Amino acid sequence: MTSVPTGSTATLANVTSQFPSFTPDKPGNYVVAESVAGKTMTVYAGLYDGVSGGGLTAGSGHDYQYQGCNLSCHTGPTNVPYVLGSTPPNMFAPWSTTAHSVAFASYIDGQIGQDFGAGCIQCHTLGSNAAKTVSTYGFDDVAKSDNWSFPSPLVPGDNVSLVTNLPDLAKLSNVQCESCHGPNSTGAHETPAGAVARISVSNEVCASCHGDEGFHTKGTQWKDSPHANSSLAIGEGLASPAHCGRCHTAQGMVQYSQQLRNSAPGTQYSSGTPGYLTSDGNPATFDAGVQTNVATPASLANLGLTASLVEPQTCEACHDPHGVTNGQGYPSQLRLYDTLPAGLPNGQGEITGVGSGAICMSCHNTRNGETDDTTAGTLSSTAGVGRAGHDGPQTDVLFGVNAYFVPVSNPSPHLAVQDTCAGCHENIPNASQAALGQTSNHSFLADLSICSSCHGSSGVDGAALQADVKSQLMTLDNLIFTKMAKAMNAAITANGNFVVAAQDTVTGNYLCAAAGGANPTFAFTTAPAGSAFTEPQPVQKWRSLGTGVWFVVPTLNGTTECTSAGALSGGTYNGVAPLSVSPGSIKSAGAVVFAANSVLARAMSNESMLHNDESWGIHNLPFTQTVIANTTTQVNAL
Ligand code: HEC
Ligand code: HEC
Ligand code: HEC
Ligand code: HEC
Ligand code: HEC
Ligand code: HEC
Ligand code: HEC
Ligand code: HEC
Repeated sequence: MTSVPTGSTATLANVTSQFPSFTPDKPGNYVVAESVAGKTMTVYAGLYDGVSGGGLTAGSGHDYQYQGCNLSCHTGPTNVPYVLGSTPPNMFAPWSTTAHSVAFASYIDGQIGQDFGAGCIQCHTLGSNAAKTVSTYGFDDVAKSDNWSFPSPLVPGDNVSLVTNLPDLAKLSNVQCESCHGPNSTGAHETPAGAVARISVSNEVCASCHGDEGFHTKGTQWKDSPHANSSLAIGEGLASPAHCGRCHTAQGMVQYSQQLRNSAPGTQYSSGTPGYLTSDGNPATFDAGVQTNVATPASLANLGLTASLVEPQTCEACHDPHGVTNGQGYPSQLRLYDTLPAGLPNGQGEITGVGSGAICMSCHNTRNGETDDTTAGTLSSTAGVGRAGHDGPQTDVLFGVNAYFVPVSNPSPHLAVQDTCAGCHENIPNASQAALGQTSNHSFLADLSICSSCHGSSGVDGAALQADVKSQLMTLDNLIFTKMAKAMNAAITANGNFVVAAQDTVTGNYLCAAAGGANPTFAFTTAPAGSAFTEPQPVQKWRSLGTGVWFVVPTLNGTTECTSAGALSGGTYNGVAPLSVSPGSIKSAGAVVFAANSVLARAMSNESMLHNDESWGIHNLPFTQTVIANTTTQVNAL
């Protein structure tokens, strides 16, 4: 600790461990230095202010004066991102419409009987924490100094009398700005130059109240879910942040959802960049066909898309903490609800009537523009073959769009479920949650126990239905592989060989004839048999047939291997490990063997859509069955 406020005796504990800690005992700045790289960190400790001030008009809870914050400074629009130095947004107006803003006032008048008491205030007021050793001017501290105790019995008028008689205490009630942003009376308020804004979109901000094990289980359920995958957010969200960061990071989603709400119909297609994050959070704007608000490295960093700040799909990705959208009647402060006027990156136009599922659909779609037999002309615009390759095609499957060999749209009977995706994945607990007495699902992982809550206990057999779909898909996979081998053999007959960049999935090296050339190519003069194709491990799905098929070729045992840079690796292929090859890169006499709009390429695209959906028929049984049947017919004819 290189600096502490006057009078503080705080010291750093566990200094040589990975997690040193200290407890501030006086308001002020604490500077912690790290001796290896010479980095320092400033911790701003302060006392709570509370939102309501003098001159209160007693009322129903919405009687704040905001201490002038939104009279002089906080007058700007509520748009994200906030740019340091611009007019601070008036977050008070939307916040005062949320349940947070009356989380104490709603119960102190006895609205829920006599259950509300001292043990409840920790999460229903500002800055209350029984474990504190010093006063932070939180509700519990001021209640003590004011000699206030819970009214008993609770009666109508309790809140008015608190506001009238003890305004210094009343202003610390309810869930407020400082509950999430930290105490205001510190040097961090008007963000110091060079510092990042005092904002965190981490799960912890909400889980401090929403995350206990018993009743308030959202934070704990979320932590067990794939949405809590931080390494995916860092790896994929920052890969190409204006594009991938929309769905793979919370910060990106904050802005993406705003753009989705405000964009003109049909502007989310992937051709060009209209759906990508922009420099100012507004939909893409153009001047003579050139986009004028393309995101910049600085605007993306300001949003928090950096390795040290980026977060996965946290609470704040789906819920707007300030309730900016509550004016439009969105329940639970969701960022998107019921209608997606701008459509989706998968090429779907305006979507309506999908309830809370709208938030899921914005991310869980194939994001590569419209794909069907009527738009085949645009197929070859992506690398590889087929278009439905991106993980998360559940929205496409539910609506039955973007598949080949079927009509353009094949909506599911399950679109009738209220709140669509959320109706099955959030509103009903799965079996392990139900066993704990929980009533909703914030891990969003559904299972087959949910069928009976709508279909009755003897209504449908989900397991039999899934088993049937899986076996039909496996048969189709084998058929596709057989025909792939046939097409490669045809290339050999015509040209003597076919050429690939084949990667040994065990060593990570490539097969090579001689040293030289990045990603060395290798000429095959014998095609692998259909049965030599295997599914990528360890996942029981093909991420996308467009980006990789695997096959084993025993006859190539002993073939020389090269590094990706083309240098001899010193090792050889053992004839046992699967070789990974992108179908789009399988060439013969310079031409691709599986052209992007060929029947096999379309079959691969259909197949990977149904695999990546991972509901095995539940999302849209009639569509799934028709796609498998029609694809089988097409491939059989080859
Ligand atoms: C650990 C923090 C915490 C404590 C302690 C706590 N609450 Fe809550 N309370 C919450 C949160 C968070 C919610 C929002 C509901 C949710 O997460 O599902 C909530 C919601 C409520 C609601 C709204 C109805 C509902 O279920 O959504 C009532 C009523 C309520 N609490 C009463 C109480 C009472 C009475 C006590 C004391 C016996 C209490 N709370 C203690 C955090 C807490
Ligand atoms: C429930 C937690 C919570 C509450 C309550 C809350 N905030 Fe926030 N605030 C956040 C989070 C998380 C973000 C970043 C994500 C976002 O902008 O939606 C944020 C962002 C902001 C921003 C930057 C917005 C931008 O445009 O980038 C400002 C300014 C702000 N809050 C002020 C306030 C004020 C003033 C209040 C009280 C009226 C308040 N907040 C209440 C959690 C909260
Ligand atoms: C200081 C404790 C506290 C913190 C921090 C907190 N909440 Fe809450 N939250 C509550 C309580 C208490 C309620 C219940 C309000 C009621 O219904 O009376 C609630 C209710 C909600 C609701 C239900 C709103 C509705 O309209 O029914 C949502 C959604 C929510 N919180 C989201 C969040 C998110 C997202 C964050 C983090 C950015 C967060 N909360 C941080 C205490 C907290
Ligand atoms: C992937 C999106 C998503 C994420 C992440 C998410 N939620 Fe939700 N949340 C929803 C949906 C959808 C609903 C249901 C809204 C409805 O239909 O009313 C919901 C409902 C809620 C409610 C109201 C529930 C009730 O019982 O009335 C609260 C409170 C809440 N969420 C808090 C949280 C908190 C806290 C986190 C982080 C730990 C979180 N949510 C993460 C999507 C999300
Ligand atoms: C901001 C983007 C985003 C939103 C919104 C979102 N998801 Fe996700 N979801 C993801 C990503 C990314 C993953 C993959 C995480 C991983 O693989 O680790 C994922 C994973 C999942 C999984 C686990 C999939 C698996 O293979 O195990 C389920 C289930 C899921 N989401 C359901 C939902 C539901 C239901 C909603 C709406 C309430 C929703 N998601 C909203 C981005 C999102
Ligand atoms: C429109 C939203 C969206 C966009 C944009 C997006 N993704 Fe995804 N991505 C998802 C969802 C949703 C999932 C997970 C779905 C599931 O598990 O069912 C996912 C999964 C993935 C996975 C697989 C993760 C795993 O655990 O298996 C990778 C890798 C990935 N995305 C990379 C990217 C890259 C790179 C980009 C940018 C070029 C990108 N994504 C853009 C929504 C998106
Ligand atoms: C009729 C109820 C229902 C609806 C509606 C629904 N799902 Fe599902 N979903 C399921 C079931 C059941 C599974 C399979 C779970 C299993 O096999 O354990 C599943 C599987 C998934 C998976 C793969 C999860 C995993 O664990 O591998 C994701 C992701 C998913 N759904 C997202 C969505 C999205 C996004 C929507 C809306 C576009 C949606 N679901 C609509 C019931 C539903
Ligand atoms: C939230 C309610 C809900 C849940 C949960 C649910 N369903 Fe359904 N299901 C529906 C509705 C609504 C329909 C449409 C009924 C209609 O069109 O008359 C439907 C229709 C169906 C159909 C008829 C499709 C066809 O071929 O015509 C099947 C099969 C089915 N569901 C299976 C399942 C299975 C299996 C599960 C569990 C994984 C499940 N459902 C979970 C509400 C639900």
